[in-house]
Amino acid sequence: MADTSMTSRVVEAPTGSTITVKSETPLLPRAAFVLITLASLLGVYFTGRMHGLAGFALFWRWTAIWSPALVVGFLAWRLFYLRPVESGLSPERVGALHGALLDRVRVVGRYLAVFSLVAASAPFVVEYLSGWQATALVLANLAAAALLPFAWCDRRLAYLALAAGAGTLILWSVADSSGLVYLTLVRAAHLLAFGLWLGGALFNLGAAVPAGRRHANMHAVVAGARQLERFRWVVRTSLPTIIFTGLWMALRYGGFASPFWRDGLGLLIPLKLGLIGALVVIFITCPLYRACSPVRGVCNLDDLGA
Ligand code: HEM
Repeated sequence: MADTSMTSRVVEAPTGSTITVKSETPLLPRAAFVLITLASLLGVYFTGRMHGLAGFALFWRWTAIWSPALVVGFLAWRLFYLRPVESGLSPERVGALHGALLDRVRVVGRYLAVFSLVAASAPFVVEYLSGWQATALVLANLAAAALLPFAWCDRRLAYLALAAGAGTLILWSVADSSGLVYLTLVRAAHLLAFGLWLGGALFNLGAAVPAGRRHANMHAVVAGARQLERFRWVVRTSLPTIIFTGLWMALRYGGFASPFWRDGLGLLIPLKLGLIGALVVIFITCPLYRACSPVRGVCNLDDLGA
C-alpha cells in the first residue's frame, strides 16, 4: 500500500548515497492520528453519557480531554526524544535539525495554547464536577495556555506545561471515578497512554516531518530515525496499556458475553476494539512500507545502505 502517487526530490547525501524526499506526507501516520482521535471521541462520549451529559456539553468536554492529551505527547517528544546532540553524528547538522524542530514547536505550541484556553472553559458546562475539581481543571488549562508559547525555548517552562497537561488528565480521572482509587489509577493510565500516543503522532506530523524535509542530509536522517524509534518504544508501551486498562474498565459494566455490548451505548466499546485493531495494523504496516516519514531512511535506516 505504498503511496506511489507522491512526487519525490532526490538529495545528495554527504557519503555519496542519495536521500529521497517525498513531497506529500504519507497517509498512514495521518490515518493513525484520525483513528486515535476517533477512539477518544467514542470514549469521552461513553463516559459523558454515563455521567448524564448530553448535546454540546459532551463535545466540549471531549475538547477538554483531547487538548491536554495533545500537550502531553507533544511535549514528551520535545523534552525526551529530541536531543540537541546525538552520539557519532555531526553536531552542526544535528544542531540545525534541532533548531528547525524547536521552531516547529514554537508554531504548533501557539495552536496548542489556544486549544488549552478552550479546554479551560469546559468545566463550566460539566455539571457533575465539584467546586474544587472545576477550579483545578480551569487553572491547570490556563497554566498550560500561558506556558506553551515558551515551551520551545525554555526547557523548564516546557516541563511545567507538560505537568499541567498531565495534571489535567489526572484531574479528569479523579472527577470521573466516584472516589474509587483503583478506577482512578486505571483511568489515569488509559488517558496518559492515549496522550503520549496522540501528542507524539502530532509531533511527528507537525514538527518532525516538515523539519526533516528541510534537513535531508545523512546526519539529520539518522537523528530523525533515532527520535522516531524512541517514540515507537513509547507506542509499544501505550498500546497494551490502553488495551488492558480499557478492557478492565469495560468489564466493570458487564462480562464478555453480556448483552450490554450489543446495542446502544455499550456498542461503542466493541467499536473501540475495532479501532485499536486497525491502529495495531497501521503500527506494524507503517515501517514495513516505509510510511512513517517522507524522508527516506527515517523510517528504517537500512534504506540508506552502508
Ligand atoms: C486508541 C485507542 C483508545 C483511545 C484513544 C481511548 C481513549 C479513551 C478516552 C479519552 C476515554 C474517556 C475517558 C473520560 O471521558 O474520562 C476512554 C474511556 C474508555 N475507554 Fe478508551 N480508548 C481507546 C481504546 C480503548 C479500548 C481498546 C477499550 C476496551 C475495549 C477502551 C475502553 C474504554 C472504556 C470502557 C472507557 C469508559 C470508562 C468509563 O467511563 O467507565 N478504550 N477511552
